[in-house]
Amino acid sequence: MREAVSIIGAGRVGAALGAGLRRAGWPVVAVGGRGTAATRRGARFVGAPAASARAAAAAADIVIVAVPDDAVAATAREIAPALRRGAVVLHTAGALSSDALSPVRRRGARAASLHPLMTFPTPGRGLAALRGAHVFVEGDRGTRPLLHRLVRNLGAVPVDVSKRGKVLYHAGAVLACNALVALLADAFALFSAAGIPERRALAALGPLVRTTVENVLALGPARALTGPVARGDARTVARHLAALHGRHRDVYAALGRSTLAIARLPISSRRALAALLAP
Ligand SMILES: NC(=O)c1ccc[n+]([C@@H]2O[C@H](COP(=O)([O-])OP(=O)(O)OC[C@H]3O[C@@H](n4cnc5c(N)ncnc54)[C@H](OP(=O)(O)O)[C@@H]3O)[C@@H](O)[C@H]2O)c1
Repeated sequence: MREAVSIIGAGRVGAALGAGLRRAGWPVVAVGGRGTAATRRGARFVGAPAASARAAAAAADIVIVAVPDDAVAATAREIAPALRRGAVVLHTAGALSSDALSPVRRRGARAASLHPLMTFPTPGRGLAALRGAHVFVEGDRGTRPLLHRLVRNLGAVPVDVSKRGKVLYHAGAVLACNALVALLADAFALFSAAGIPERRALAALGPLVRTTVENVLALGPARALTGPVARGDARTVARHLAALHGRHRDVYAALGRSTLAIARLPISSRRALAALLAP
């Protein structure tokens, strides 16, 4: 017999997790929220009745809090008095540890966190992308087997992360996902400034970006690295810096320093490039 689950905050992530667990046979008994249109939409997507956050917390042994990061602690305080003894409460924020839920511990519940390393633009897309995704988990003593079971039942891969490591792990994930998007936006802007139409830029950069990512994943960053910094071509780097302004110059120089950190170069080339790329 599986434990009853409730979801509090059935937005993009909460609705996807609720629907995924229900599909995997878990009794998802309630979708809690602030009684907004989003609560009703989330409940419909999950296929469970909408309720207040407190009522949803009281109805389940596993309470998934999938509200915005800044609202996790307040939600924990709100639901704590309603919790069942021995309940496990988990949140889905990447940069917070289970300590963000500490008010629930004072009520005899256990706290945990479960962060899918995946992007959820909508509940439907998130649900589909969960299959095969890696989900990073940590929590109070005895919660690990349950967290792994939940993740595996979603068709995903559980990975343990330490409480202290979470914020760094999440900063790394932001660089790999959101910062990559911002970096590509800057690359498109430079193509546009060079007079290359957007459609052409998208078509031309597609094969370069895909191949680069594939190379990094197959060979590791150091062996996948090519370009002027990797070759020690200081004059080319100086030409780029002279042509760039403002934010684009700052981004180029900062990422040039990160490139230098993994480039295999003789000390003289390294020094020349470090001087050019200094903040
Ligand atoms: N989206 C992603 O790609 C992604 C990926 C991994 C992890 N996460 C994490 O998952 C959590 C939820 O993110 P999300 O993208 O699913 O957010 P979301 O789509 O904005 O949904 C959050 C839900 O929380 C409720 N809510 C909003 N503001 C609130 C407040 N001030 N107090 C209490 N409840 C509030 C709302 O439901 P009601 O109106 O029904 O109350 C809303 O539907 C965050 O911690 C985020 O870091 C997100």
